Amino acid sequence: YFDNGNQIFKDARREHYAVGAYNTNNLEWTRAELRAAEETRTPLLIQVSTGAAKYMGGYKFVKDMVADQIDSMNISVPVILNLDHGDYESAKECIALGYSSVMFDGHALPVEENLAKTKEIIKLAHERGISVEAEIGKIGENQGADGGELASVEDAITFYKAGVDKLACGIGNIHGVYPEGWKGLNFDRLKEIADAVPVPLVLHGGSGIPEDQVKKAISLGIAKVNINTEFQLAFQKATRKYIEDKKDLDTANKGYDPRKLLLPGTEAITAAMKEMISWLGTKSID
Ligand code: G3H
Ligand code: ZN
Repeated sequence: YFDNGNQIFKDARREHYAVGAYNTNNLEWTRAELRAAEETRTPLLIQVSTGAAKYMGGYKFVKDMVADQIDSMNISVPVILNLDHGDYESAKECIALGYSSVMFDGHALPVEENLAKTKEIIKLAHERGISVEAEIGKIGENQGADGGELASVEDAITFYKAGVDKLACGIGNIHGVYPEGWKGLNFDRLKEIADAVPVPLVLHGGSGIPEDQVKKAISLGIAKVNINTEFQLAFQKATRKYIEDKKDLDTANKGYDPRKLLLPGTEAITAAMKEMISWLGTKSID
C-alpha cells in the first residue's frame, strides 16, 4: 500500500519543489487528504503524531484506516505513511507495523544520544525498506516569537553520514500559529545546511509561513513541508460557519447528522490542501 517516498523526495529536492506532509487526525482528515492528492494526481505523505494516534486508538488502527481508504477510494497516486515526531519506542512500533516512513525525533536528547538512537532506528527501518527522518536543532513552540534552536551544519553532516533519508532542521520555524513578531526563517542557515548535505530537508511548522518564504525555502533545498494547524483552522472555520448559519438546527434536513455536520470542514481541508500543493509546486505523477 505504501511507498517509502525516498525517490519522491530525492526528485523533489533535485527539481526544487516540495511534497506536503499532511497530518491526519481522524477519518475525515484522512479522506479529505487522500481526495486532494488523487484529484491533483500528486503523491501524498500522510502522517500521524503520537497524540493523534492515541486519540484514534493506536498506530495499528491508523495504518489499517489509511490502507482501507486507499482501497475503498481507489487511490492511485503514491501514498507514504509516516510516523510524525516519534520517540524511540513509537518508531520501533511503527516499523514493525509496516509504516513506510518514520520520523525519530531525538532533538530533546543530547546530540550524541540522538545520533545513537537515530542510527538504531535507521538500521531497523532500512532492513525493511522503510525511510527515516531525524531532527536536529529545535522547532520552536508557539509561545513567544522565539523560533527554537538553529540546527548546526556540523550536526547536519553527521546525521547525513549516519544515513538519514530526510532531515528536519530548526531554521527559525515554529509549530502551530506563528506569533506576532516572528523573525522569519533563517535562510542563511538553511543554505549552509543545504550546501553541505544533499539529503531532502524538512520544514516543520509549515502552517502560516508566508508564501514567499515557503517558496524561497524550497528553492534552497526544502523538499518536505509539514502541515497540520492549517487544516485544523480550515476545518474550524467551515464548521463554525455551518453552525453560525444554524444549519445544524435544520431538523427537516437532519443538519445535525454528523455526515452533514462534518462535511463543510472536510471539504475545506481538501480545498486547503489543493492550495498548499500549488504553493509547494508538488509535481503530478502523470
Ligand atoms: O510535524 C508536524 C508539523 O511540523 C506541523 O506543524 O501544525 O505548524 O503546521 P504545523
Ligand atoms: Zn513537526
